[in-house]
Amino acid sequence: MRDLISFEGIDGAGKSTQIQMLAAKYRSHHQPVVIVREPGGTELGESIRRLLLESKGKMSIKAELLLFAASRAQLVNDVVVPALENFEVVIMDRFYDSTTAYQGYGRGVDVDMIDRINQFAADYWEPSVTFLLRLDPDEMMARKRSKDGKVGELDRMEQAGIEFFRKVSNGYGMIAKKHPNRFCVLDASEPPDEIHKKICGELESRKNRRPNWP
Ligand code: TYD
Repeated sequence: MRDLISFEGIDGAGKSTQIQMLAAKYRSHHQPVVIVREPGGTELGESIRRLLLESKGKMSIKAELLLFAASRAQLVNDVVVPALENFEVVIMDRFYDSTTAYQGYGRGVDVDMIDRINQFAADYWEPSVTFLLRLDPDEMMARKRSKDGKVGELDRMEQAGIEFFRKVSNGYGMIAKKHPNRFCVLDASEPPDEIHKKICGELESRKNRRPNWP
């Protein structure tokens, strides 16, 4: 079996936990799974990740957008397509919807332009299903706060502030509305086990649907 599944949501929504739970389930059924995260996942991609998240200097919005796309192009080419060809399940911790949400709705880059760049970078592959974990941006900030009440260390994207995350969060809502068949929207404030059950149920109900792959 091969499948391409992506997880989206604002930072701290609990994507990693759900991805690990889902991967464990596939593996318990002897189904090979590859987990990839964006930006990163290849040698070039990890270098780009450092530039994007740790860079202290100024970065233009266009440069930021194209770096995310460059990391994605390498990942799709080196990891995603070979794994799918090998009949593996690929679980993506973020894919191109992140660019639409963060650089498009968050930073204000034209969304039609982003759609074209996304398709180009992803070689026209699309997830068969995208799980969007919705979390209130204020709740997200609360989750980021360490026990002593201080905000933990934030990366370059996270430093953008609450207003930015509100735009990103609304953006995700709009993307999900635009692609109702592909998106499954989940409430990230529910207990992880409940969310996992819903994810498994959704995948079960989609078992016989085939995505439109290149
Ligand atoms: P990461 O540490 O992977 O965050 P998370 O655990 O929330 O996934 O950091 C990735 C950051 O980059 C995150 O703030 C989202 C942002 N991002 C974009 O702005 N555009 C993109 O296309 C992608 C893939 C990520």
